[in-house]
Amino acid sequence: MYQTWEELERSIKNCQKCKLAQGRTNIVFADGNKQADIMLIGEGPGADEDRMGVPFVGKAGKLMNMAFQALEINREKLYIANIVKCRPPNNRNPEADEAMACMDYLRNQVLLVKPKIIVLLGSVALKNILGKEYGITSARGKWIEHKGILYLPTWHPAALLRDDTKKIDFWKDLKLVKEKAQEMGIW
Ligand code: URA
Ligand code: SF4
Repeated sequence: MYQTWEELERSIKNCQKCKLAQGRTNIVFADGNKQADIMLIGEGPGADEDRMGVPFVGKAGKLMNMAFQALEINREKLYIANIVKCRPPNNRNPEADEAMACMDYLRNQVLLVKPKIIVLLGSVALKNILGKEYGITSARGKWIEHKGILYLPTWHPAALLRDDTKKIDFWKDLKLVKEKAQEMGIW
C-alpha cells in the first residue's frame, strides 16, 4: 500500500496487471474530492470515460449528475472511483481475474480517502466489495456496516437508463446517503 497519492498514481500509470490494459485509451482513476467523507464505487469505464480518462462522464454519469442536482448534493462532497480502471471490451462486466488484479488500487484509494460512507453502484461493486453472497435487488437501499465503514448498495446508474422505475429507488437511496451524512455531522 502506498502512503501518498503521488506514489499510488505513479504505480498505476502503465499498469499491465490484467488483460484490460490492451484495449484502453486512458486509465480512469477517479474523480472528486480526495478528502471526501463519501465515496462512490462504480463498475468500470465505458467508451466516454475511456476517451476522457474521467469516471461517469457518459450517459449514465449525466443521469447521476441530475440526481445530485435535484438532491442538492455537491460533487465536492464525493470521491468517485470504479472496480476496474480500464474499459472492458463492449462494456461487458469485469471478469473475476480483472477485478482481483485491480482491487489493490481501489483498496489503496479507500485507505487514503478514509471515507465514512461508501455507496456501491450496482451488482459488480457490491459483490466485489462485500462478497458474492450479496444480491443487489435485496441489498439495495439498506445500510451495511463493515470494518467501520457504512455501505449503501444501490442501482448502477446505467440500470436507470433501461428501467425508469429504478430512478425512484436511486433518488431515494441518494437521499438516504445525504440524511445519514447530516446525521453523522459530515455534511
Ligand atoms: N459506469 C461505471 O461503472 N463507471 C463509469 O465510470 C462509467 C460508467
Ligand atoms: Fe491494471 Fe486495473 Fe487496468 Fe487491469 S484494469 S490493467 S489491473 S489498471
